Amino acid sequence: MITKKTVVEHLVGKNLQPIKEEAVAFAPANIALIKYWGKRNSELNLPLTNSLSIALNKGTHTKITVQKNHDSVYLNGIECSLNESFSKRLIAFIDLFRTPGTYFRIETVNEIPTAAGFASSSSGFAALTLALHTLYNWKVSPKELSALARLGSGSASRSIYQRGFVEWKKGSREDGLDSVSVPLKARWPELQIGYNIISDKQKPIDSRSAMQQTIETSTLYNAGWKKQVACDLKCIKEAIRTQNFTLLGETCERNALVMHATMLGASPPILYWQPETVLIMHKIWQLRKEGLRLYFTMDAGPNIKMLYLLEDQEAIETAGIKLYK
Ligand code: PMV
Repeated sequence: MITKKTVVEHLVGKNLQPIKEEAVAFAPANIALIKYWGKRNSELNLPLTNSLSIALNKGTHTKITVQKNHDSVYLNGIECSLNESFSKRLIAFIDLFRTPGTYFRIETVNEIPTAAGFASSSSGFAALTLALHTLYNWKVSPKELSALARLGSGSASRSIYQRGFVEWKKGSREDGLDSVSVPLKARWPELQIGYNIISDKQKPIDSRSAMQQTIETSTLYNAGWKKQVACDLKCIKEAIRTQNFTLLGETCERNALVMHATMLGASPPILYWQPETVLIMHKIWQLRKEGLRLYFTMDAGPNIKMLYLLEDQEAIETAGIKLYK
């Protein structure tokens, strides 16, 4: 069986020693316009479909320092117990790279709420990968870094690039070496993402378990999702290429809604939305009828992310929509 460890050894080698005492890195959170939902290999986080995202201007700052005798983990300035799931995930990730007897202090500062569907795991594992890259001085390409970050969290593979649109190719190799993210050349600075915080509480079911439950029990997954992604990917690329905001918004909103529909078809059903989520959806649809250019997307959480153009920001806020950026 191909394990994370064998992939790591193939990409960066084994028995490596840090060449520095400490390293820092930043990675942006990313929001998928075409979602990743479902794995073909859950050990290596290999997806069943391609996905495409845009980087936010907020993300995660990570500092990793070599220390004697033991590991320590800090989140937003507060020391975490090594028994917490947050610490366990980080430690399991760095264990893939270090030799026994090497210990680290890992300091993570998230500019966005942790684990509430705000994509903090995307920026978190990407920033940690970039910090390890500097600490160990690996000789790897950005695509290879995206494959390494993917071993921490699938969507992290798209956060290796500091800005813009990124496509994560599902790949077909068993070892996942072709399941990498690539940046798109297009720039669209007027395109904005704002989010509406309905809840920053930990989500009731993590995305890994929710994906698995959907694939195993929702007939909507195989019947609809894969086809939907193939068609939405074409539309979104065309929208980005021609800077067609209506096409981008319609495609992105539909893709998110179909992803959530596949989850509703699971047994037991998975519903991340809260009543406020639905209220905002209705409000956005109403404002659109009135002529405002505003679309939404949602990940594995109750919060809504809004897509709009910079020139419309004032009108959207005047209409009573809060836009956190
Ligand atoms: O990378 P994960 O395991 O946190 O999964 C992310 C899943 C979604 O955010 C819902 C979609 C995506 O493509 O980011």
